[in-house]
Amino acid sequence: MNLNYNSNELMLVANNESITLSDLYKGQPVYVYNLEGIKERYEAFKNSFNGKVDIHYAVKANTHRDILSTLAQLGAGADVVSIGEIEQCLEAGFLPETIVYSGVGKSKMEIEKAVKLGIKEINVEGPQELERISEITKRLNKPAHVSLRMNPDVCPDTHPYIRTGFRENKFGMDESFLPELIKTLKSNPLLVLKGLSIHIGSQILETKSYCEAVKKMWPVFEKLKSEGFQLETFNVGGGFGIQYETQEYKKDFQLMQEFGQAMLDVFKDQNLKILCEPGRMLVGPEGILLCEVEYIKSTPYKNFAIVNTGMHHLIRPALYQSFHKILATQQNLDREEVLYDIVGPICESSDVIGTERTMRELKQGDLLAILDTGAYGATMQSRYNSQVHVLEVVI
Ligand code: LLP
Repeated sequence: MNLNYNSNELMLVANNESITLSDLYKGQPVYVYNLEGIKERYEAFKNSFNGKVDIHYAVKANTHRDILSTLAQLGAGADVVSIGEIEQCLEAGFLPETIVYSGVGKSKMEIEKAVKLGIKEINVEGPQELERISEITKRLNKPAHVSLRMNPDVCPDTHPYIRTGFRENKFGMDESFLPELIKTLKSNPLLVLKGLSIHIGSQILETKSYCEAVKKMWPVFEKLKSEGFQLETFNVGGGFGIQYETQEYKKDFQLMQEFGQAMLDVFKDQNLKILCEPGRMLVGPEGILLCEVEYIKSTPYKNFAIVNTGMHHLIRPALYQSFHKILATQQNLDREEVLYDIVGPICESSDVIGTERTMRELKQGDLLAILDTGAYGATMQSRYNSQVHVLEVVI
């Protein structure tokens, strides 16, 4: 999001227009998303593969209806992890045949709905799940397109809570499951194996772990081919990281470019369609959370700025100790600099938005913008302490 101070006011520049951020605040915390920026990111991602990719937006990052419908109109598919997400996608205009479905705990009801809808691929996360899909296809007498989500055992440099392709993670399948999977697949012609899929984690800022993961999957791929399966797709997952500390958005576009090229290189001898599931990279930097300072509380040890948002609206700092830059919507260069912990109203000491931030002195009623909150902000909100849901607006 293109933000800068114009004299004292923090402005958002979108579509060649400047919007005063404080004008968007209406007395309650609000997420603001910039659709133009999201479109630009989607197009750049697609172009970085020279168009040779099917992008399935990971809707868990942000399910705002306008974001979903905009991406659907641009031709994106969706990556979902529940029937709730499938329903949101259908309502926003995604066709079932553009939806891929991962998730380690798919219920019978969810699988049955996905099979009835004829979605593009169910990414199978375990032999028992494949058995369950098989039973459902037989009962409905309807085929299911499946892909095997493998666990490639790679360990990219990111927070351990959001690594997903390491051997000790619950996601995907170990190669040793193959005989059982092949037996189930061969026993039921309604199970149509379309390809392999991996997802190694999130907020990853390099491409070598992806190349390593894909290469580690070649023996699995060869084994399935030798068993007579015609694999058509390879889903490389999502996980591309953004610059939370510096807002150097150019680096995001460089990473997309590098990633696209690395995948085109690694797959060049294979006649396969590449599928990809970015979430954060498309929406993260295109969202901010606006909130208001309710109180200043200065103790002999700390200065707290207590705001009207917190872990119930943005849990990332509490859950992963994530950094989000915080800017006051008024620059106030005439005020002294003070060190603050910016905290919320929730009855938990982990309810922080930012710790040890040097800011121009804050006062009651000042507005703050919490940056890069377009991904995993509103979708992870809760009603803890019976707080109300946060507002969201799109510009
Ligand atoms: N595909 C699958 C199967 C996934 O599980 C995920 C994210 C994605 C794609 C999209 O990953 P992305 O491109 O957005 O990194 N709540 C955490 C992130 C958890 C990501 C879980 N899976 C956070 O706030 O950092």
